[in-house]
Formats: sequence, C-alpha cells, structure tokens
Amino acid sequence: MAAVEARHASLWVETAPPAVDHPALEGEAEFDVAVLGGGITGLLTAILLKEAGLRVAVVEADRIGRGVTAHSTVKVTAGHGTRYSELERAFGLDTARVYAEANAEGLETIASLVDRLAIDCEFERRPTHVWAETAEERERLGREAAVEREVGLPTSLLDRAEELPFDVTGLLRMDDQAQFHPAKFLAGLAAAVDGGGSAVFERSRAARVEEEERRCRVSAGEGVLHANHVVVATHYPFLNRGYFFAKLYPHREYAVALRAGSEASAIRGMYINLGTPTRSLRQAADDAGDLLIVVGEGHKAGEAAPTDARYLALEDWGRTFFDAGPPEYRWSTQDPMSMDGLPFVGRIGRTSDRVWVATGFGTWGMTNAAAAAAILRERILGNDHPWARTFDAQRLTPRQSALTFSKENAKVAGHLVGDRLKALAASVRDLAPGEGRVVRRGLHAVGVARDDEGRLHAVSAACTHLGCLVAWNGAERSWDCPCHGSRFGMDGRVLHAPAVEPLESLDPSDLGLG
Ligand code: FES
Repeated sequence: MAAVEARHASLWVETAPPAVDHPALEGEAEFDVAVLGGGITGLLTAILLKEAGLRVAVVEADRIGRGVTAHSTVKVTAGHGTRYSELERAFGLDTARVYAEANAEGLETIASLVDRLAIDCEFERRPTHVWAETAEERERLGREAAVEREVGLPTSLLDRAEELPFDVTGLLRMDDQAQFHPAKFLAGLAAAVDGGGSAVFERSRAARVEEEERRCRVSAGEGVLHANHVVVATHYPFLNRGYFFAKLYPHREYAVALRAGSEASAIRGMYINLGTPTRSLRQAADDAGDLLIVVGEGHKAGEAAPTDARYLALEDWGRTFFDAGPPEYRWSTQDPMSMDGLPFVGRIGRTSDRVWVATGFGTWGMTNAAAAAAILRERILGNDHPWARTFDAQRLTPRQSALTFSKENAKVAGHLVGDRLKALAASVRDLAPGEGRVVRRGLHAVGVARDDEGRLHAVSAACTHLGCLVAWNGAERSWDCPCHGSRFGMDGRVLHAPAVEPLESLDPSDLGLG
C-alpha cells in the first residue's frame, strides 16, 4: 500500500500549546543542584528536589517538551511486557518486586503531580494489555501473570481481547494505568520548577562537568553553573564516566498516528504484542479528531536502512486491522537499553560523590523516570533509598548481562574497526534530495547528504563521541551512530548525546563532490 503524506513530526510536539520561553544560561550562577536535561527524568527530579527545599537549575540543550519524552508512546504504566518474569529469572523474585514497587509508585507520583500542580495534560486512567498470538506466547504470558501477581501488581490473564479485531491466544491486563500528553506534562512541570530560587534554562547544551571537593562546575551554552550536586538526565549520559558506553546500547523505534475511524476511536486500552515485530497501540486525538498510534519496527540505532520502510510497515499494519485512515504524523524515538534490563540510577562513577545519573529505562521511560527521581532526591538529601541498590548505576551483573554485553560490544567493535574497512561508495552523484551516504575521500570517511534544494552537505563521518562511523537515517534526515546512539543533523550539529561536539563540517567542493 502506498504511503499517504504525513507530517514528519511527533504528534505531541505538534499539538503542544506554544512553548513558554525559558532563557539560555549566560554568565555564572549558583544553585544547590544542577539537573542536566529537561525531559521527564530531569524535570521530575527537579520538582521533587525543589519540593524538598533545594534551589534547582534545569539545563536543557534544546527546548522543553521537544526531546525524547515528547517522541515516546507515553504509556504511564507498571506493565512492561514480560519484564517481571525476565527479572525473576535473571535476578530472583526480590528484584522483580523492587522493580514493580518502583514503577507502581512511579505511576502514582506522576498522577499526584498532575493533580497537585493542576497540570492540564490529558492524564487518563486506562488499562494496559499484552497480547499473545501463539500457544508458546500464551505460555509465556501465563508465567508473566504469575510473577506479576506474586509481586503485587493488579494483573489478570484473559482468553479474549474484546477491543482487538483479530484473534489472540491470551491477554495480560493491568487495570488503572494511565496515558497522557507528554509535552503538556513537561510544560507544566517546567512552570512549577521555575521561580522561588529555582530556574529552567533552555538552548544551553551542557558540555563539561568538573567535580571539585565541595562543589561542581558545569559549563553549558554560554554560561557556568556552580552547584553542590549535578544530575545527568540527558537520556544517554553525555559524560564519559562510569563506562556507560559499554553498559548501554541504543534502540530506535518508530511511531505513526493514523486518523481513527469509529471503531479505532473506541479503543480504550493501551496494547503491546508479545511476538515480533513489535506492535504497540494506544488512542490519542488532535484538533481534527481521534487518532490511533501504532509503534514498533524497533532496531539498533544506526543499523537498519532504509528507515522509510519502517513507517510504511506500521501504517499498513494499522490500516489492515483497524478502520484507520491516512497517517497524520510520523516520528521516531531512541532509547538507551541496559544490558541486564534494569535502569541505572545513582552515582555516575565510583569516585563521584556529587554527580548522579539516571538512564537505561529501556522503552519504559515514564514510570522508571519517576522512580529514578525518587531515588535521586533521597540520595542527594543524604538518605538511603530502598530501591537504590537494585538500580545502582555502578552495579556489576556479569551473569545477567553476559549475553547482551558480548553481542552488543562485539557489534561496537565491528563498527569501530569493520566499518572503516568496508568498501565505501565513491560517488554521490545519484543522491536524491533527502538521501545521504558515507563515501571515502583519501583516508577519510565523509558523510554526504543532499537537501531539498539539491545542495550537498558534507561532514566528517567519524562520530565525535568515540569515533565509530555514522550512518544516514533517511526518515529523520540525520547522521546516526550505531555504537552508542549519538545523532547529528545534516549539517553535523548534535541532536542527541552522548556526543557533545558536532561532526566536522566539510566543503563538498574541496572534496571534489560539489
Ligand atoms: Fe559513541 Fe558514536 S555514539 S562512538
């Protein structure tokens, strides 16, 4: 089926109210805590710390409500596929219980903030579901249901899915979960953080953090912050401390919002399948009416091209099974996945006393972000937290991480060495607008892309994080790094950490490409 032209933009960004401008950081300023990253993790951490009486600065590289949080599916739920049976098998029931408690409380933290701060963000209680389509998947759902009940989650296992237009072999249901509009939620949080001695800064990319004996010094944008503690909440940590580059791998996923017919509009639940390829669903709306969001087609960032085909697959699937019309919005997102399936929350390095991190939420960032914020608040206040050990950012879990660790780090080694030996294309003459390619010029690999006006743009293809070769992402028109997920615009500017420096800009005519 041919694609119908859709806005290449996140539904949440496009339907957010006009953004409130927060100033860029300039000069020097002092706070108790500097939170780097204005997504859900950073803003939740900031508001909890502010409510505990601290003066907090949030520093966002771009704009509030335009980053990763506003590109997710936004299921605010403790139901995370079959995560609990996986954790029980890898770590035991106690770990699964901590993860359940952290995420169930995370949901209630978000609900209570929406209520307390009167944030108008379409927060609605809805059930979440996981569906099975084979006998083997049904068996796995049964195991998951048993573990979820054991750790106290409100789970039921059903034989039929009333709202889905196809047969299932089983359905795991968790009641009283929630969905919301993430950009509106973030705008409400930012407004609550700002003022009373705390502040929000935008368009100020943090580049360096120096940890001194009693204070930290953060260089961001055109300014410097001094703070007792620093929280790195940049999704993928941009600081090369704590070996996160060897503990996380980037996962990319795609979303489309289709105009919903009357049946698709009536879907109340949020859904995800157990099989592959992943298909995840929820209902939403814009000014023109109801929408059906379909998410899936995940792959390791920077590795699977062409990305346009991913959107087509989601659109075809949605329109095959639901009375859905043309796609209205298309967007994609990226998540840092931990090797052992648990988030990393705590000190960024073994010798760090003042720099903290929260990352590795997998594809379940909402409630895990709230859990991370609760842990960080207590640790920064000098207290212990009952979940801190399980989520410890410095933990070593060789047994649970081994398989993914060796697979993912072998891939990184392959990209660092193998990509350089690959025969790279020699010509860019046939590049159409919106296309890009890495070519060899002498000893150098050069990323060349053509814009809509037909102009060529050239950048060094060596990622400024640790040197892997970037690859062109045609759907997003970005240079993506397959090693740790850094992303760069066509002109080389940084879109996504861990890189903080842009790709070197080159003149195509100097390279004989013009
Ligand atoms: Fe680490 Fe590119 S993101 S080398």
